[in-house]
Amino acid sequence: MPSISDCKCVLVIGSTSGIGRSLALAILDLPSQPTVIVCGRRKERLDELVASHNATGRLKSVTLDVLLERNALKSSIEEIVNTYPDLDAVLFSSGIQRAFDFTRPDTIDLDSLECELATNYTSIVRMITFFLPHLIKLGEQGRPTFLYPVSSGLSIYPAAGVPDYCATKSALHSLSISLAVQLKKKNVHVVEIIPPLVESELHGFQGTTQGLSRFWLTLEEYTKETMEGLVRGDPYVPAGTAVDRYKKFEGGKLEAAARLYGQS
Ligand SMILES: NC(=O)c1ccc[n+]([C@@H]2O[C@H](COP(=O)([O-])OP(=O)(O)OC[C@H]3O[C@@H](n4cnc5c(N)ncnc54)[C@H](OP(=O)(O)O)[C@@H]3O)[C@@H](O)[C@H]2O)c1
Repeated sequence: MPSISDCKCVLVIGSTSGIGRSLALAILDLPSQPTVIVCGRRKERLDELVASHNATGRLKSVTLDVLLERNALKSSIEEIVNTYPDLDAVLFSSGIQRAFDFTRPDTIDLDSLECELATNYTSIVRMITFFLPHLIKLGEQGRPTFLYPVSSGLSIYPAAGVPDYCATKSALHSLSISLAVQLKKKNVHVVEIIPPLVESELHGFQGTTQGLSRFWLTLEEYTKETMEGLVRGDPYVPAGTAVDRYKKFEGGKLEAAARLYGQS
């Protein structure tokens, strides 16, 4: 199976903190010595990351807001591809999480809800669409290429306090299955990364960090388990409690979708 170890150049979108930052640094340490591009809005964090981890010269950075207007986002993606023609993998770790209480509809901030949808789903479909011409071209030249959407264990069954977040992750999960099935013949491998609750800044906005920190996987534990799956070339990469959740409710779904597509 082709895997992350075959990649020459990996872009990690949403790597100024948390899961993206930790996976980017672990990928940088692979024996295959890929170039890694860290990416997000907070330039000072990207600068600090590159300054503190760039002994090899293989760590690069690019600032990007994934909520850019559609044409501006397309231009930014084309610029990244032109700057890094060896780019053969994109990991989408950008995401936000917001709580909504539908028992009090007057409190629902639809701007915030729609921003969550745009960040966690729409922007990712857009970026995938804009990266694909380049990745398909490399794939057709015989180089395996990769898309790594980061969904969540909550894509499988929801935590009701963050209902829109879970819906965005379910949408991304479903999209990942369809794209994995469609793009296999183009030598573009879509590998969904499915984290459980993990130490990060994601929950800071809701003030739930302290409570959740009693249950979460540390970034170190999470990164180790996920990198093992990525290096093995697993077709999807759940970790921690998401492994059992996936087995119980999702086992066989990818294969069934592949059969259905083959029949159409
Ligand atoms: N931690 C968990 O328990 C958990 C569990 C399951 C899934 N996940 C998923 O894992 C991914 C990473 O989350 P995390 O836990 O590592 O959270 P985090 O520490 O808050 O990191 C989120 C990242 O997303 C980036 N981002 C947010 N909005 C962006 C925008 N408009 N443009 C560009 N980048 C943007 C942030 O960068 P800037 O702010 O610098 O732009 C940051 O690097 C998310 O998709 C999340 O849903 C997390």
